[in-house]
Amino acid sequence: MCGIVGYVGPQPALPILVEGLRRLEYRGYDSAGVAVRTDDAIWVQKAVGRVSSLAAKTRLGPAGCIGIAHTRWATHGGVTEANAHPHLDERARIAVVHNGIIENMSELKRELEQQGVVFKSETDTEIFAHLIRSVYDGDPLQAVSYAVKRVRGTYGIAVMFQEHPEQLFVARNGSPLVIGLGDGETVVASDPQAVVEHTRRVVYLKDRELAILTRDGVQVHSFDGRSLDSSIEMLEADYKVADKEGFPHFMLKEIHEQPRSIQRCQLGRIQVEDGNARLGGMELQPRDLVGIQRVIMLGCGTSYHAGMVGSMAIEALARVPSRAEIASEFRHRHPIVPREALFVAISQSGETLDTLGAIQEVQLKGGDCVGVVNVVGSTIARTCGRGTYLYSGPEVAVASTKAFTSQITALLTFTLMLARTRDLSYDKGQEVAQSLHDIPAKVAHYLERPGPIDEAVEAIVDARYVLFLGRGFSYPVALEGALKLKEIAYVPCEAYPAGEMKHGPIAMLEEGTPVIVIVPRDSQREKAISNIKEVQARGAKVIAIHTEGDELVQSIADISIEVPACAEYVSPLITVLPLQLIAYKAGLALGRDIDKPRNLAKSVTVE
Ligand code: AGP
Repeated sequence: MCGIVGYVGPQPALPILVEGLRRLEYRGYDSAGVAVRTDDAIWVQKAVGRVSSLAAKTRLGPAGCIGIAHTRWATHGGVTEANAHPHLDERARIAVVHNGIIENMSELKRELEQQGVVFKSETDTEIFAHLIRSVYDGDPLQAVSYAVKRVRGTYGIAVMFQEHPEQLFVARNGSPLVIGLGDGETVVASDPQAVVEHTRRVVYLKDRELAILTRDGVQVHSFDGRSLDSSIEMLEADYKVADKEGFPHFMLKEIHEQPRSIQRCQLGRIQVEDGNARLGGMELQPRDLVGIQRVIMLGCGTSYHAGMVGSMAIEALARVPSRAEIASEFRHRHPIVPREALFVAISQSGETLDTLGAIQEVQLKGGDCVGVVNVVGSTIARTCGRGTYLYSGPEVAVASTKAFTSQITALLTFTLMLARTRDLSYDKGQEVAQSLHDIPAKVAHYLERPGPIDEAVEAIVDARYVLFLGRGFSYPVALEGALKLKEIAYVPCEAYPAGEMKHGPIAMLEEGTPVIVIVPRDSQREKAISNIKEVQARGAKVIAIHTEGDELVQSIADISIEVPACAEYVSPLITVLPLQLIAYKAGLALGRDIDKPRNLAKSVTVE
């Protein structure tokens, strides 16, 4: 949440900073701002709304060669220009941008106010500017070190001093910062997306590290002042700036990328001939796998839903007890961390603070946690130390689509490995591997002919309430479909396990209420058909997502959307597709901002 960019080099900083903000806009987009040093003063411009509004206001900005910029997702204080970053000290000679939260804000603010400081915004960030000023005596490193040591909380900050025209100062405690080392220029950002156009040589700042950036490079220090070695890494050769590739929205592009992203996730991992799979990064040998007595998934939102599918597959195929936990709940309830359990942290961004907190809780209690992460080198990937990457490529739309199907693919791959060390026979292993191998073609097949999505959209856009129902493997799919519809179209809806509906939500149904039932041809189908009958008896309009050629479901549904046949445990990879399209098209029909829905941000780095 919130994106930071900084630049020091030979070129005018302003266009570089604004372009960097565009690349990071997915991280927060309620307001944006930029500060550029000129010979006389720090020039600041801010705008409420999107980066495009800021861009329009900065066309005639100064040509200074050092600056910092920020795109905001509000935590402290409303969405106003005054609250947008950068924030300045009272003499307007120090500028700060910040991603994260200062937990001891009240105490520090009171202390600064007692010293006579008058705050100009409601943000916690402004504290950094005043704290730095309160001890600054010409030594910027010492002043920034003081501030970071006084602040409790999570943050990434970038600081610029009018008196130090060749240096930027950055520090990290929990919020990511990547420093790009170019040829005579240095760029810092919350994400390599804003760096890769300048250079592929990067340094990932670690927690409790502070760095001085100049156009010639970076010097890293610990918060207590020790000089540290920085390891330079190269961004992967195929890492590039995300592009819509002709699609009107990133979300649609990412939905259509799924045949490729699922295939990439499987590459070199699924061995159909051997009826087995390999995930080298997990560093789990057969004898380690045999020792695992339970598997506990940790994640939030879509990643939690993927974890639910993964845990069902593990119980069904490997017969190892497994469950998925919402990371934000798990971390705060003093959880039991069984010695013989393997924890699996699932995250697209690799930055979600609640998931990170849950991992740290597991590690604190001596538990073993691997990561299933998309963003290479992200905080969660590093904290887990081992696991598997999804290789989905950058997911830009706030609504997660391709990451969900890749997460499930990775978890099913792990399930196969685990199951083969147990009771799963070679033949059955081959069957599972083949089912996974066949998925990309089935996804492509469905996306070519998605069925009556528009008809379904018409039925739900004006609804006061939409109910999603599924059983077994289709229940997490129902949850995911409802999450997508809420976040993209803002249509009131909820998902229920179909069997649980009669214990309450059935009271919500009235004549014409749309009910989306995920009812593939699996072990739960007959019971799900009974649920269809129950909702129809109350006047509901049923939109059924079912297997191709299932004439019975087709005949009873009001709107029938067919998906290719597949094994039960891989069905979420197929049945979720129409739900992604329904949410997308409903959002479109309602004029929503598809890639940047209100109030949301792509990576949630606050609690
Ligand atoms: C998905 O559409 C959401 N935007 C959200 O639920 C997301 O999945 C959640 O915040 C977890 O993010 P992560 O996978 O990056 O950890």
